[in-house]
Amino acid sequence: MNIYLKNTRIYQQGSFSRRDILIRDGELFFPAGPAPESATAVDGRFICILPGLADVHVHLREPGFSYKETIRTGTMAAARGGYTAVCPMPNLNPVPDSLETLEQELSIIRRDAVIPTVPYGAITKGEAGQELADMEAMAPYVAAFSDDGKGVQSPAMMEKAMEKAKTLGKIIAAHCEDNSLLNGGYIHDGAYAAAHGHRGICSESEYGPIRRDAALAKKTGCAYHVCHVSTKESVEIIRHAKSQGVNITCETAPHYLLLDDSMLQEEGRFKMNPPLRSPEDRQALLAGLLDGTIDMIATDHAPHSREEKSLGLKDSPMGVVGLECAFPVLYTGLVETGILPLEKLVALMSDAPRARFGLTSDPGFALFDLAHTWRIDPEEFASLGRATPFEGVPVRGRCLMTVCQGREVYIDPMLAKEAGQ
Ligand code: DOR
Repeated sequence: MNIYLKNTRIYQQGSFSRRDILIRDGELFFPAGPAPESATAVDGRFICILPGLADVHVHLREPGFSYKETIRTGTMAAARGGYTAVCPMPNLNPVPDSLETLEQELSIIRRDAVIPTVPYGAITKGEAGQELADMEAMAPYVAAFSDDGKGVQSPAMMEKAMEKAKTLGKIIAAHCEDNSLLNGGYIHDGAYAAAHGHRGICSESEYGPIRRDAALAKKTGCAYHVCHVSTKESVEIIRHAKSQGVNITCETAPHYLLLDDSMLQEEGRFKMNPPLRSPEDRQALLAGLLDGTIDMIATDHAPHSREEKSLGLKDSPMGVVGLECAFPVLYTGLVETGILPLEKLVALMSDAPRARFGLTSDPGFALFDLAHTWRIDPEEFASLGRATPFEGVPVRGRCLMTVCQGREVYIDPMLAKEAGQ
């Protein structure tokens, strides 16, 4: 691919400038003169060139659940969304809890991943919460440790894990969920659940463990990260812990920032864990994003098969896909509305996760057409998962191309046609 973008916007070191840019075979050039004849000239005014996005919370389902997603389809979906680094969670079969089981995942990654993929190791054996995983052996190969999909119930076990992670210089990334408070719930314990006769998950099931872990992180000095923050109390606890100097960061996901339980429908594509919370929770998350309490945005891309997700709000498994619509929904919902500057969104989706999780691979770049208006259509996804609450939503901003380590890992068919390929 050899294209010349006139007067395009490029993000470098935290801010945008306008330049004429040549992209030739996966490399960016800033030519002083006119467009070279060999290159296809493309109107660059509404295009922006971003560093490849990084998602520290995805489920790629291999090994163990390749009918839901594979390393190949999941990383292709990531590339299609503008991502050039992902960190898959360890709720797999086998769970990566030793060098031997981790190697099964790493060998598939080496064979099939189209972008840099740095997995998580489990905190406890089998994610069962009873015995520490072999964190020491896995440490050199993992982004961090997590039992995502499940909360570590025992405070003593979490403290032991934090002490170990501290000695290894690694992060504990926690799925915070107190099983004793779940009470059979599967959506937020709020207005929609009450009105439609559903069982609710209370907010304390999330913020209780966050409060516990923030104290443990303070005590142990461990680097601690909270996964998928969804409640207003969680934001407040993390804000307070930061003010006390605790080494704590957190992420939230696009659906918690843009949707709430007043928008629920009786379909599996609205069901994930934690659930969509109340409008007040959503406002608190936005405030947390603006004041720096929330450090980054991750998708929690959690694909399930079409059949599994067809069972409605009550009976579908928890999890929705996110990689292929995260940037457009956030750009449309937060940047175009004036809530967040584009620079800040890029920092939340690329710079911050890379810095916190030590993702040192070259980010490469992603080209987005910010003028392109379209509707999210899951049938176009590279992911095997199709369930998203953003299905059919009109958005602006479409990824045209993703380049990683000098390779064009994704090219939008429209751009390929324009460039005569
Ligand atoms: O919605 C979710 N899906 N939340 C989780 O914690 C796990 C994930 C999955 O693995 O499907």
